[in-house]
Amino acid sequence: IRHLLSGGDLDAGTATEILDTAAEMATVAGREVKKLPALRGRTVVNLFYEDSTRTRISFEAAAKRLSADVINFSAKGSSVTKGESLKDTALTLQAMGADAVVVRHPASGAPHRLANWVDGSVVNAGDGTHEHPTQALLDAYTMRARLGRLAGLHVAIVGDVLHSRVARSNVLLLSTLGAKVTLVGPPTLIPVDWAARAGVGSVATDADPGTDVCYDLDAVLPGVDVVMMLRVQRERMNDSYFPSAREYARRYGLDGPRLRRLPEHAIVMHPGPMNRGMEITPEVADSPRSTIVEQVANGVSVRMAVLYLLLGGNNR
Ligand code: CP
Repeated sequence: IRHLLSGGDLDAGTATEILDTAAEMATVAGREVKKLPALRGRTVVNLFYEDSTRTRISFEAAAKRLSADVINFSAKGSSVTKGESLKDTALTLQAMGADAVVVRHPASGAPHRLANWVDGSVVNAGDGTHEHPTQALLDAYTMRARLGRLAGLHVAIVGDVLHSRVARSNVLLLSTLGAKVTLVGPPTLIPVDWAARAGVGSVATDADPGTDVCYDLDAVLPGVDVVMMLRVQRERMNDSYFPSAREYARRYGLDGPRLRRLPEHAIVMHPGPMNRGMEITPEVADSPRSTIVEQVANGVSVRMAVLYLLLGGNNR
């Protein structure tokens, strides 16, 4: 593949190749020489129009571990504040020799537009409420590392699904890799098309056989292998359809008693950043069942694999 724009871009073979390559990349971190020469002479641009901690830093770390040159571009403090368009910004960066552009943008679809304007590879690092495919890959990598497989796993994705690009990419990728997904949250925070397609609380239609929807977190917990909590994205919400923080935590927050209702082998995930005390309590976030810190570490290996495979390693 030339670009990575959506979790749906990947067939099972390509997704598995990325996860396997990431596992090889992870061994680099344990060696004395932590750098590979694979992308020497290549330039990776991090083009971020929205704030980020994990994604931006891990793409930078990944590119540097592969010996690429890295240019970090943040819209704040750039000529974007003077009105320069995404297209003109992209063409400017291309003129400086970008081989890959990693883009985060508040507008859904912005990476797809960018892919039409630049010669290099485009990686979607999160576009609005649409997709975040490398997060889904690192989540899949973490599940496989902890539980030994992806096919047949039952994954609950819980909370503010409506605004979650992480949820959308995970549904696409996990379905491709043979996992079953149950979306859990208040009716106002589940996309109506997914709820209608699934039929609430029942197994989905043929159109999307791996995904169903349930509004009752307590009913779902005893049967899952993975519970992925989502950040409540208040910044994207109109307050009129959001319950109080206390009511949300009572119905959909993962706390100690709910953690103990999970099967013994089940793991707890969160893409970060967390609202501690709202969708997840500190007791759960910091428990041995939580993979939250591992997810961040795995993100570097997965992003190394993505850049390596998109840019052809030493072969181009
Ligand atoms: N998970 C994630 O995308 O985190 P950042 O917003 O910090 O990059």
